[in-house]
Amino acid sequence: MREIILAPSLLGADPLNIAAEIDRLGGNYGWLHLDIMDAHFVRNLSFGPELSRVLRRRYPDSFIDVHLMTDRLETVLPLFTDSASLITVHAETETHLLHAVLSSIRNAGIKAGIALCPPTPISRIEGVLELADLVLVMSVTPGFGGQKFIDSSLEKVRELAGLREARKLGYMIEIDGGINGSNIIGAVLAGCDAVVMGSAVFREDDPASWLAGIGAKIKEAMKDFDGKR
Ligand code: DX5
Ligand code: ZN
Repeated sequence: MREIILAPSLLGADPLNIAAEIDRLGGNYGWLHLDIMDAHFVRNLSFGPELSRVLRRRYPDSFIDVHLMTDRLETVLPLFTDSASLITVHAETETHLLHAVLSSIRNAGIKAGIALCPPTPISRIEGVLELADLVLVMSVTPGFGGQKFIDSSLEKVRELAGLREARKLGYMIEIDGGINGSNIIGAVLAGCDAVVMGSAVFREDDPASWLAGIGAKIKEAMKDFDGKR
């Protein structure tokens, strides 16, 4: 059975207490998802490289999943290569340079991801899939937490899973935006390997138990699904 990674998004955490918020997760997660926004590519500002660096120092073994919702990658990328485990850039920015951008991330010894906004078709990244360790499917308009999941995103996940099989590629599929306890199973069964969750996790009184429960529910659903195939 494939392993599903739960990736709490720190955008959903209390910004005055980020370390305490992470500790509240009780270690029941796989990756820490860090949203970087520049008020240009998206209509919001969020965290900067210093947060990624202090996370790396405080949690040296953690997997830091950096989601760059920014333009100006030439400036922004090098700010994260000393702390991130994975850096995902958007297909909609610097489209003509994507081969070079993904290669430069890998050359820095970090996993490289490519993200698609909801209206962007997979055809836009077909030519660079060999260079991607992960494809991130945005299931809300990027920029803010707490939005409603866009259902058609699952079709994109299925298509990416099919393409991966057909072309014998190795990228993981991650979904980000509007995921909660009710729609997470659908996302996993559609083919997601990593699931980002912001508001759904951090609004819980006991997010550690909630995450443990979700993990168990996923395992159960996958067992049933595999059994029926
Ligand atoms: C949105 C961010 C997401 C956000 C998800 O642009 O990329 O990572 O934190 O938040 P929820 O899970 O609340 O939709
Ligand atoms: Zn994100």
